[in-house]
Amino acid sequence: MSQRKILVTSALPYANGPLHMGHLVEYIQTDIWVRFQKLFGNQCTYVCADDAHGTAISLHAEKQGITPEESVALINKERIRDFGDFLVEFDNYHSTHSEENRKLSEAIYLKLKENGHIASRNITQAFDPEKQMFLADRYIKGECPKCGADDQYGDNCEQCGATYSPTDLKNPRSAISGAVPIEKESEHFFFKLSDFDGFLKEWTRSGTISDEIANKLAEWLDSGLQDWDISRDAPYFGFEIPGEPGKFFYVWLDAPIGYMASFENLCQRRDDLNFDDYWKKDSDCEVHHFIGKDIVNFHCLFWPAMLNGTDYRTPTSVNVHGYLTVNGEKMSKSRGTFITARTYLEHLDPEYLRYYYAAKLSSRIDDLDLNTEDLVQRVNSDLVGKVVNIASRNAGFIKKRYGGKLSASNMIPDLTADFQATGKHIAELYEGREFGKAMREIMALADKANAWIDEVKPWVVAKEEGKDQELHDICSAGINLFRLLMIYLKPVLPAMATKAEAFMNVEPMIWTDSQTLLLDHEVNKFKPLMTRVESDKVEAMIEASKEVLAKLSEPIQPEQKPAKTAASNEWLEKEPVAEQINFDDFAKVDLRIAKIVNAEHIEGAGKLLRLTLDIGEAEPRNIFAGIKSAYSPEALTGKYTVMVANLAPRKMKFGVSEGMVLAAGPGGKDLWILEPHEGAQPGMRVM
Ligand code: MSP
Ligand code: ZN
Repeated sequence: MSQRKILVTSALPYANGPLHMGHLVEYIQTDIWVRFQKLFGNQCTYVCADDAHGTAISLHAEKQGITPEESVALINKERIRDFGDFLVEFDNYHSTHSEENRKLSEAIYLKLKENGHIASRNITQAFDPEKQMFLADRYIKGECPKCGADDQYGDNCEQCGATYSPTDLKNPRSAISGAVPIEKESEHFFFKLSDFDGFLKEWTRSGTISDEIANKLAEWLDSGLQDWDISRDAPYFGFEIPGEPGKFFYVWLDAPIGYMASFENLCQRRDDLNFDDYWKKDSDCEVHHFIGKDIVNFHCLFWPAMLNGTDYRTPTSVNVHGYLTVNGEKMSKSRGTFITARTYLEHLDPEYLRYYYAAKLSSRIDDLDLNTEDLVQRVNSDLVGKVVNIASRNAGFIKKRYGGKLSASNMIPDLTADFQATGKHIAELYEGREFGKAMREIMALADKANAWIDEVKPWVVAKEEGKDQELHDICSAGINLFRLLMIYLKPVLPAMATKAEAFMNVEPMIWTDSQTLLLDHEVNKFKPLMTRVESDKVEAMIEASKEVLAKLSEPIQPEQKPAKTAASNEWLEKEPVAEQINFDDFAKVDLRIAKIVNAEHIEGAGKLLRLTLDIGEAEPRNIFAGIKSAYSPEALTGKYTVMVANLAPRKMKFGVSEGMVLAAGPGGKDLWILEPHEGAQPGMRVM
C-alpha cells in the first residue's frame, strides 16, 4: 500500500469568544480522522488557525477595552490550551491575521482580478453616523414590519419568524451605537461567482461532497449565482485590498485562504512538506476540509471557485457535520447548556466527550445531541464496563502468578482472527467518517471478549489444582484481546491508549500492530485506565456553565483595563504606562536576585562597566551595564541586585553580555540600580 499524503483542516474558529461543546464536535471529529490516518501509516498533516478578522472581532475587542490584535492574542492562548487539553493535536495552529495570509490573499485577489473575475460597483448601505461605519444587517435592530415586536435584527424576527431586509424594519437603530442609521453609497468589489457556474455544477457532483450537500447546493446553482461582495469599507479589522485604499477584504475572502497560510507557515519549518506539492493544480496530495453545515456555501461554492479561478487545486473532499444540541435543545445560556470547553475540562475527563461524540458521529449532516445522562451511561458501560474491564479482569493474575509474563501461545486463534478481520472493517468505517458505526463494531468485539471470559471463568480456574497453564493462557488471551481493542480505539482515546501501552509495556501502537499478538511478553503493573463518570460532576458542570456565561458577555472590569489616568508626575508624563499585559506575558521575564561578585572598568568604554554576577549557576555571568556615569566599581562589588536572567545573550563590542541589570533614572549621574531588601538570596526568582 502506498502512503497517502493528506492535508486536513477544520474550520477556523472566530476569535471572538471561548470554544464550546458545539465547536468541539468539529475539532474532535477531525482529530479522530487525522489520528486514524497517522496510525494507519499515511502522511497526514492537520492545520487550523484563528479566524481573526471582521466586525464581530473588533467589536468584541472594543467591549474589553483592548485592540483587536490584543484580543485575538488573548483568545489564541486560551484556545491552544483548550484544544490541547481535549487532545486535539494540530500540526500547526496559525492565525488569519498573519503575513502568510496577507500575501496569499493579495496574490489570489490579484490573480482573480487579472483573470477578469472581479467587478466593482456602488452600492447603498446602512451607515452608522455616530460610529462612522457601515452596518451589516445583523448590526441593525428595530421593530418587526410584520408583528411590530421591538428589538429585532435586520434579517428576521425572532418573535413571528418573518424574514425581511433591514430597510423594512420600523424605527431602525444601530445595534452598536443606538444611532439611527442613514443610507450611504460606497464602491464595493465583487467576485463574479457566475463565471464558475459550469465548473461548480460539475465539481459539486464529482464526489468531493456528499449527495446530501450537493442537493442543497443545487438550489443555489439552479437559481443562478450572484456576484459575491468581497469588500468592506474602513474601519474594518482585516487586510486592505491592494490598490484600493480604505477598502478591506471581507473576512470570508481571506478566511479559507487561512488554511493555505497555516500550511505555508508550517512548511517553513518542516523539510518534509512542500507548499506546492499540496496546492498546485495537478497535485497528487489530498486536501480534506471538515466544516459545520452553516458554512457550506463558503466552502463548496466560493472557495472552490476562487481556487479554480487562480490555478490552485480544489479540495479532495469537504466533510460536513450537523449542529450540536444539548439535552435536546439549542445550547442555552440560561439552562447551563452553553458549556465552554474550559468549564467542561474543569469537571470532566476530555476522553469521555471524545468517545461520546465518536459514538454519535456519522458521515451525514444530521444534528447530534449531547445528552448528559446518556454520556454518563455510555461511557460507564462501554469504556469502563466493557473495555477496561477486560484488562482489569486478567492483569492481576498475570502479575501475581506469572511474574507479569504473558503466555507463549494463543489459546483462542479463532476469536483473535475474528478481532483482526473486524479491524479491517473498522478501518474502513474510520476512513468513511462513520465513527458511530466503528464504535459499535468495537463494542461488539468487547462484548465477545467479555462473553468468552465469562465462559472460561478465570476466577474459578484460578482456584483449581493443576490448571496453572490454562489460567495463564486465558489471562494472556484476554490481555491480547484488550490490546486489539485499544489499537482500534486509539484515534478516539489517545490518552487511554498511552496508559494501556505503559501497562502492556509496548511502544506506541500503530494500526498494523493489530496483525500481531503479545506472546511470551512481560507486562507492567495494571493501573486504572479510566474512572467512571460521576453524575454529580456533570451536574456541577451545568451549574458552573450558568455562572460562566453570565460573566462572558461583560466587558473586562475597569481595574483590569489599561491605565488611562492622566499623568500627574513628570516621569509618567514623559513615559506613560505601557500597554497592559497579562500575567503569562509577565511571567516570561525571569528576574533573579544576583550578587555582584565583581565590577570593573573596561578600557575604551565610555559608559559601560563590566559586572560579574552570581545567581548560583556553575559559572558567574558576564554583563555590561551602562552605569559607569553613576557608579564606581567599588561601590557595587559585593552588593546584591536584580537581573533579567533569561534575556538572549547579546554580542557587544567588548564581549557577550549575558543578561541585564535593572536600573531607573534618566541617565548620567541620575541612575539607580535596584537592590533587594536584606534576606534575599542569589538565584531567588523575583515575582
Ligand atoms: N470563522 C468561521 C469559519 C471560517 S473557515 C475558513 C466560523 N467560525 S465559528 O467559530 O463560528 O465556527 C467554527 C466551526 O465550528 C464551524 O465549522 C461551525 O460549523 C462549527 N460549530 C460552531 N457551533 C457549532 C455547533 N453548535 N454544533 C456543531 N458545530 C458548530 O464559522
Ligand atoms: Zn415579527
